[in-house]
Amino acid sequence: MNTVRYQDKIDRAAQFLQEFITIEPKWCVILGSGLGGLGEYLDDPVVRIPYAEIPGFPRSGVQGHSGILIAGGSGGIGVLVMEGRFHRYEGHDWSTLILPLRVLIRLSVSRFILTNAAGGIRPDLLPGDLMMITDHINLMGGNPLTGPNLSAFGPRFPALTACYDHEIQAVMKEAADRHQVELKEGVYAALAGPNYETAAEIRMLKILGADAVGMSTVPEVIAIRHASARVIAVSMITNTTGGTDVPTHEEVMEMAERKKRSLHRVILDVIDRA
Ligand code: HPA
Repeated sequence: MNTVRYQDKIDRAAQFLQEFITIEPKWCVILGSGLGGLGEYLDDPVVRIPYAEIPGFPRSGVQGHSGILIAGGSGGIGVLVMEGRFHRYEGHDWSTLILPLRVLIRLSVSRFILTNAAGGIRPDLLPGDLMMITDHINLMGGNPLTGPNLSAFGPRFPALTACYDHEIQAVMKEAADRHQVELKEGVYAALAGPNYETAAEIRMLKILGADAVGMSTVPEVIAIRHASARVIAVSMITNTTGGTDVPTHEEVMEMAERKKRSLHRVILDVIDRA
């Protein structure tokens, strides 16, 4: 990575977006597979910018990830919604993968709510359940902070203890209660994908202490915490794992679509109250 060129890329994308954004953004919500639609609830003026138009952004080609940045407000607070995200399995290198996060941080976003679709490993985590991520295990085989450190963002060796923000988590738990949405909790393991796991891999993940498994979110959390921004994350459990069932992308998308509205309501409540 050429550090100067990379920082230029971040600056250029931030300058480009600045032209469209009317309220200074404080929050960013990243919506995973099948979880889009939150933008419909934002206050006007809502601006929709396809990732493909943002200079320096990677290209997203995954079905179910529309690839749009939505800028708007919620109760006067500036919110950016990333509908669709970038995955390691698409072939992006690590620094490109987390460039959008750094652009948003440069734009003054300091709080992130990340969502994803995940397979349930713990027996009580069933399709349709929401699991607030209490901690993660990085099994992606790499780290997005590999390469020269960008000291303008954070230190060479950031700590990831208590990396999911306890205060915002408490607000999310209250919001879930208020909306009568059950919010389970657990540890998320991230693998690179794109294949779903073998039965033996699921047994391994269980032994390692994972409650759910997916292919995203952890690189983003690492980039966010590197910059000392605050983050919480929620998995929508879309399938069970380890049995004889064969998970499919269609099944993951359908379950996420079916249950996403309750997640959207809880997220908006968190933004209003945290
Ligand atoms: N494994 C990995 N990623 C996933 C799964 C799964 O079972 N379900 C949704 N994303």
